[in-house]
Amino acid sequence: MAETPQGQGHETLSNLLQESRRFPPPADLAAHANATAGTYEAADTDRLGFWEEQARRLTWDRPWDTVLEWNPPFAKWFTGGTLNAAVNCLDRHVEAGRGDRVAYYWEGEPGDTRTITYAQLTDEVCKASNALIELGVAKGDRVAIYMPMIPETVVAMLACARIGAVHMVVFGGFSADALGTRLDDSEAKVVITADGGYRRGKASSLKPAVDEAVADRPAIEHVLVVRRTGQAVDWTDGRDVWWHDTVGRQSTEHAAEAHDAEHPLYIMYTSGTTAKPKGILHTTGGYLTQVAFTHWAVFDLKPETDIFWTAADIGWVTGHSYIVYGPLCNGATSVMYEGTPDTPHKGRFWEIVEKYRVSIAYMAPTAIRTFMKWGEDIPAGFDMSSLRVLGSVGEPINPEAYTWYRKNIGGDRTPVVDTWWQTETGAIMVSPLPGVTAGKPGAAMRPIPGIVADVVDEEAKSVPDGGGGFIVVREPWPSMLRGIWGDPQRYQDTYWSRFEGLYFPGDGAKRDEDGDIWLLGRVDDVMLVSGHNISTTEVESALVSHPKVAEAAVVGASDPVTGQGIVAFVILRGEAGDGGDGLVKELRDHVSASLGPIAKPRQIMVVPELPKTRSGKIMRRLLRDVAENRRLGDVTTLTDSAVMDVIAAKLPEAK
Ligand code: WT7
Repeated sequence: MAETPQGQGHETLSNLLQESRRFPPPADLAAHANATAGTYEAADTDRLGFWEEQARRLTWDRPWDTVLEWNPPFAKWFTGGTLNAAVNCLDRHVEAGRGDRVAYYWEGEPGDTRTITYAQLTDEVCKASNALIELGVAKGDRVAIYMPMIPETVVAMLACARIGAVHMVVFGGFSADALGTRLDDSEAKVVITADGGYRRGKASSLKPAVDEAVADRPAIEHVLVVRRTGQAVDWTDGRDVWWHDTVGRQSTEHAAEAHDAEHPLYIMYTSGTTAKPKGILHTTGGYLTQVAFTHWAVFDLKPETDIFWTAADIGWVTGHSYIVYGPLCNGATSVMYEGTPDTPHKGRFWEIVEKYRVSIAYMAPTAIRTFMKWGEDIPAGFDMSSLRVLGSVGEPINPEAYTWYRKNIGGDRTPVVDTWWQTETGAIMVSPLPGVTAGKPGAAMRPIPGIVADVVDEEAKSVPDGGGGFIVVREPWPSMLRGIWGDPQRYQDTYWSRFEGLYFPGDGAKRDEDGDIWLLGRVDDVMLVSGHNISTTEVESALVSHPKVAEAAVVGASDPVTGQGIVAFVILRGEAGDGGDGLVKELRDHVSASLGPIAKPRQIMVVPELPKTRSGKIMRRLLRDVAENRRLGDVTTLTDSAVMDVIAAKLPEAK
């Protein structure tokens, strides 16, 4: 087997992809933009002063004494300050006379809807806070939340935050086992769940997984259950309590205590590539500061007029930061959708945009490429003239997916902001600003104001324009993780040991001739072909730029001649049919013409689906197993493990 390319290549990443398209900000957006060129200047002149200015977006009970205490790699922001996260999300808007503003237009998958104002949400959170106290939850305790996408999920999170309990949301698609390990690691004492939720046109259950996870975990004192679907559930008296009873009968009065700026707000587990998930810890003041600022600046959020929609699950950090904390801190009106994009039909997202007049939409490239596959006729059937900013997150967005999104969803008017960040960074780090940046398809462009990120080579030296290597963060930032729950050593080893004094996110990146940053995927996904480091992302983008291709996944498979050979798996666009004769040759030639002969795939397979994690990331590890004729590794985090059988069956004929 070839050496793994990680950290061993002698060259930095090749800078293969050329992109000349530019999309300057629309004039009216630029004229009224929240963030301007001056925002960068302010941050460059006095970075800590800039973040103090941003912290004033929040309401503090006691102002901070010190903006940053930095004992690398441990940061404390706004020390001495106290505030309450729930009050910042809710009460202060009500007190300012904005109680009637809608916080959420919630849309259930079966079509049921709820409209919840800031005043109503405040009352519900106060009731839930009182209920948690009654159930014995105290400040600092951990509470697990395993829920569908319903308003009670937000209420549960904010009730924890209000009383100073630490929430730990586990994505509702995870198994009882996955829930169990997270309950152990976080030492949670209460689980909040629901009987089930709606997905793909059916009621799916949640309570049985909780029952299984909690059965041999006596540390869990109570399970608080929301009735969503009405399906039958098993019940353990004394342990299980209904939300509508226990929360329903509480008072709407709850006097919120102010918590320390560094008080833990939540833990979110991220699996990374290794076995044991890492409990990423976020705290209060710095986290809220950066999510509020980025939500305002990157999306140009105007709380009086915008309808904001993050089409992600609250079980991911995207949901925490841009469905819950960012939008609520800013007093925004959001859409929240329970279900899948193809239920009951493939236009469901666009129907929601039309119905609520969504003006800002934020979603993942994997969703965008799925929409490309379904074809442009589907969005064309809806009125989406309300949209003015589109966002992308979670993976590199291929230039072709970017332009498809801009054209077919954004009506060729809207800026697309490609936002790079991680569970660990808590908030957006590298992104265009829609009123300032001339967007470049596929590039995340520049660190946002107040963030000092760089692209460095193997020796931690900043690369020149045109060079490639690794993205790093040079200075602490307000919403940075404060550690891995219960494992400070792993925090140091994972993020702070690759490059002395620099935060290492684990992503490959390049800086183009204009000095703009492109993210090129996880470092483990970089291929080493005949001595050249080639990014899987770039080859994938070249494939997706072919009119017949909707989605592509590329891996490096060991090759006796070249070290690694490029193997590609492609899904065709709806309009392309079976692609026709000679398709594979056509695609290989296309990659060669776009990126150079060095990047020409050794092998291309047309497949109906790709293996993805539940958060929508392609599992290249499994494709590498297929390409190298190995037994498949762990498939338990796949959305659909049958996908791998279909792909493996394709292999012999492709060779
Ligand atoms: C990893 C973090 C950010 C919240 C959702 C995912 C990849 C994320 C981009 C982007 C290229 C991106 C990176 C990163 N990623 N956004 N705009 N361009 N890559 O959070 O599960 O912690 O994943 O997602 O590889 O390290 P996460």
